[in-house]
Amino acid sequence: MKKIAILISGRGSNMAVILDAIKRGEVPAEVALVLSNRADAAGLQTASDAGIPVAVVPSKGKSREDFEASVQEELIHAGAEFVCLAGFMRVLSQGFVEAWSGRMLNIHPSLLPLFRGLHVHEQALEARVAVSGCTVHYVTPELDGGPIVGQAVVPVEPGDTPDTLAERVQKAEHILYPAALARCLGGAGNVLPQPGILIAFREV
Ligand code: GAR
Repeated sequence: MKKIAILISGRGSNMAVILDAIKRGEVPAEVALVLSNRADAAGLQTASDAGIPVAVVPSKGKSREDFEASVQEELIHAGAEFVCLAGFMRVLSQGFVEAWSGRMLNIHPSLLPLFRGLHVHEQALEARVAVSGCTVHYVTPELDGGPIVGQAVVPVEPGDTPDTLAERVQKAEHILYPAALARCLGGAGNVLPQPGILIAFREV
């Protein structure tokens, strides 16, 4: 059973589905820590309600070096062996990323390598793509550029706004992330066929 840490900045819905999947025995992991860079992240409450240790390391007003040193300290203190970025909205330095090389996943709300960075759904709608989706990938120093573990594809519907597309993509994220994580930790990571969502994984 791997000890994992989940890093969040906001709602934490991906974190919540990972916690649920672990509870159902679908992901061979134990959550040692949920850490947020924002004290007001709603996901912190969800995690502590589930009995998970939580920590806040504020990023505001701190140098990146100091911030990352504090995060690293928390991760080591918690005994984390693997890290999941789940809506963690800070770009991590090369040094930090390399310290977790092969042991840190991220979920991004687009079909990478398309639409990296921020305002992803706006980018997708502007590009007039017919499908979008989400990607779980290993984190490397290249932003949103690490090896892809799995992707989920959803249609872009006529009249979509960034919000309606985001909602459809999030539903897909909630299926993809726990399964992708399970696979990275040696579990089966099976997903049932989902209407309107195509999910596929790669061997990494
Ligand atoms: C998710 O849609 C995730 O893909 C995105 O933030 C959202 C967090 O939602 N992450 C990024 O954009 C990272 N570049 P959640 O807090 O409800 O899991």
